[in-house]
Amino acid sequence: VTLATYQDRYLPFLEAELKDALECEGVLVPYYGMLQYHMGWLDADLNPVGAPSGKRLRPVLCLLSCEAVDGAFEQALPAAAAIELVHNFSLIHDDIEDQSDMRRHRTALWRLWGLPHGINSGDGMFAAAFLKLSQLRERGVPLRRALEAQRVFAQTCLTVTEGQYLDMAFETQAAIDLEGYLSMVRRKTAALIACSTRLGALLGGADLEIQDAYARFGENLGLAFQVVDDILGIWGDEEHTGKSTSSDILTRKKTLPIVYALGDEELQQLYAQEHLSEQDVDRVVSLLDRHQARLFAQNMARQYSEEALRCLSSSPERNAAHHALREHTLSLLSRTM
Ligand code: IPE
Ligand code: IPE
Ligand code: MG
Ligand code: MG
Repeated sequence: VTLATYQDRYLPFLEAELKDALECEGVLVPYYGMLQYHMGWLDADLNPVGAPSGKRLRPVLCLLSCEAVDGAFEQALPAAAAIELVHNFSLIHDDIEDQSDMRRHRTALWRLWGLPHGINSGDGMFAAAFLKLSQLRERGVPLRRALEAQRVFAQTCLTVTEGQYLDMAFETQAAIDLEGYLSMVRRKTAALIACSTRLGALLGGADLEIQDAYARFGENLGLAFQVVDDILGIWGDEEHTGKSTSSDILTRKKTLPIVYALGDEELQQLYAQEHLSEQDVDRVVSLLDRHQARLFAQNMARQYSEEALRCLSSSPERNAAHHALREHTLSLLSRTM
């Protein structure tokens, strides 16, 4: 049984949970329509369409973690869906915060409907996530476990906003070192992936020690994932990623390749400007290439993936889902989208 088999099994259940969370009728059809547009179910005129809707990485990790500790994945479904909803909330607001026009090959929600609706739609997605999570009890999850899941989930949402704060604050700070970078990425990205694997283990009935091991697995995987995202944000193919390869540099993001090469005086000068031109972006990339910043970042992603695998092996289960988690971890290193 491979990773693809699990994905094929989970995705129909997951999509049904997501649709259920964002369903509506009457005067609010245009409101939920914006959320459904973001999810890739509707086009900009709110007609049904099968647009790219994201990799569903986090919910799949959650459900696999549940099965890897010999739990029933159905019990973790509301949590998996809630995590994907909160992820999508974070993307709707992230595109506003990052002034990004493109998401998943399409115009970002806020660019189509404006900033006020972008903010409110994000809030709606956020609340829908908590509502979905509250269904754990009616699926037979014991009260204590459901309450613990709620607590971990809320804490994670707060942590993600801390990470987004640091990410934005760093735009105008000249000297960000590796430690600063990691403190930001741990919060903005690794925290939600750690939450996915922890809640999978928790809802699968694992004890706290095993939950912690799964959380450490997810956190390291999340760090590797964001480092790869940083690489793709500079050297990726927009046709694959569906995101801009200049926006990180134009907004002076302290991504890992930049942090690594920040000792370069010319790079410092370029990044000290308030506005960078497309020409400046090209120059920044050639400086990064000169310092082999891409290679450095790739090595770093590999190291965090290896650490993730070590954390995973520290837990005793060795079933097919456990194996699929290993497979997933390795496959993310060479992703192009
Ligand atoms: C994008 O996450 C934001 C990051 C944390 C890097 P994903 O790459 O998982 O986004 P989708 O859901 O697949 O589009
Ligand atoms: C990732 O943000 C973290 C969150 C969205 C919370 P980024 O800004 O690095 O991700 P992309 O590249 O826009 O997807
Ligand atoms: Mg962004
Ligand atoms: Mg961002």
